[in-house]
Amino acid sequence: MKKLRLDKYLADMQAGTRSEVKQMIRKGRVTVNGETVRRPEQKTDPEQDRVAVDGETVRYVAMEYWMLNKPQGVVSATEDRREKTVLSLLPDSARKDLFPVGRLDKDTEGLLLLTNDGALAHGLLSPKRHVDKIYRAVVSGKPGSREQELFRQGLDIGDEKKTLPAELEILDVRPDCSEVEITIREGRYHQIKRMFEAVGMKVLFLKRISMGPLTLDEALEPGQARPLTEEETAALKGV
Ligand code: URA
Repeated sequence: MKKLRLDKYLADMQAGTRSEVKQMIRKGRVTVNGETVRRPEQKTDPEQDRVAVDGETVRYVAMEYWMLNKPQGVVSATEDRREKTVLSLLPDSARKDLFPVGRLDKDTEGLLLLTNDGALAHGLLSPKRHVDKIYRAVVSGKPGSREQELFRQGLDIGDEKKTLPAELEILDVRPDCSEVEITIREGRYHQIKRMFEAVGMKVLFLKRISMGPLTLDEALEPGQARPLTEEETAALKGV
């Protein structure tokens, strides 16, 4: 891992805001390998140096964030006795403690975030947060304004509560199927398939294209993954 400025190291580890940790450093409260350091810009090696604030060690926990274009036929799990998992698609260089943030069905493609940042995953999946997820689908039949209105109103899909208002955009209507884009703010089990079932249609193909501020990189072929850019990670943390 590359060296970091001392103030970034501490701010990344939530010791305070960037300006708060700068103050802490200037006041002589921070030591690196036992020596007081007063320069916030001093480079620190997160793997070698021992950083402490007021004598308390602050360990650097490196988080990793990967975007996967999930192909069909793999399961969104860390391990599975019989099925191939999404983790098996990451390169060997990836950390071994990563997990998928939420699930896509085995036959669903598209954007899947993998990380070891439990707090971020929890925030993105929290039912209270209502993070937008956008899917492209091919469905049987010809959805129209009636279905758009039903999606907007919320549907009874057999759960205790109706679904939250969802948007249904109709992209293309063909003789035997239609291409649509759906925006949902929850992540219930088989949610999109069950929403179309509730209006008498069947999902024939499903692909997630975005989750909150994160959009699937179209340069990724199904089965390919890449680390998130710093901008993508920062945008996700702002959710
Ligand atoms: N809705 C579904 O039905 N399946 C998915 O994989 C994701 C959303």
